[in-house]
Amino acid sequence: MIYTVLLFTVLCVLGANASPAPLKLPTQIAEKVKLVGSQCIKETGAPADALTNTIPWNLSENETNEKFLFCLCKGNNLINDEGYFDYEKTVKIFANSDKKDDTAKALTECNALKAKDKYETVYKITDCFFGKIPITLSL
Ligand SMILES: *[C@@H]1O[C@H](CO)[C@@H](O)[C@H](O)[C@H]1NC(C)=O
Ligand SMILES: *[C@@H]1O[C@H](CO)[C@@H](O)[C@H](O)[C@H]1NC(C)=O
Repeated sequence: MIYTVLLFTVLCVLGANASPAPLKLPTQIAEKVKLVGSQCIKETGAPADALTNTIPWNLSENETNEKFLFCLCKGNNLINDEGYFDYEKTVKIFANSDKKDDTAKALTECNALKAKDKYETVYKITDCFFGKIPITLSL
């Protein structure tokens, strides 16, 4: 009995501390994201590390970063003019993941958020989404 409890505790602690498995973007998508990312850094004046801080998610919230993110997602046809994500196109990125159902659910929930403008909208949804999904993206 005591061993069962111990084993259970150990497994729970390990489970809670395990970092989510990184999902590498398919090469074709990654290349496009990098290309658009460097254009968007120039266009918005965002810091040189803005893209590597977006994937995986570590982008701090300010106007410049929000504009960068809008530019990046728009350039990859993932959002509309209001900053909301296209469900089909976004879900497709996670098609090969065993966690695709979780990502679809998170997207539906986060894509319902409201913000003061299209830049804040895309930031808030992305931040919500990466906070909910059990995987991290890598380039
Ligand atoms: C997260 O971003 C900040 C800058 O906003 C940077 O200083 C820090 O090194 C980044 N962390 C990681 C893990 O990339
Ligand atoms: C936004 O945050 C970045 C760090 O991620 C920083 O380099 C930049 O100066 C900030 N911009 C504004 C307008 O605060």
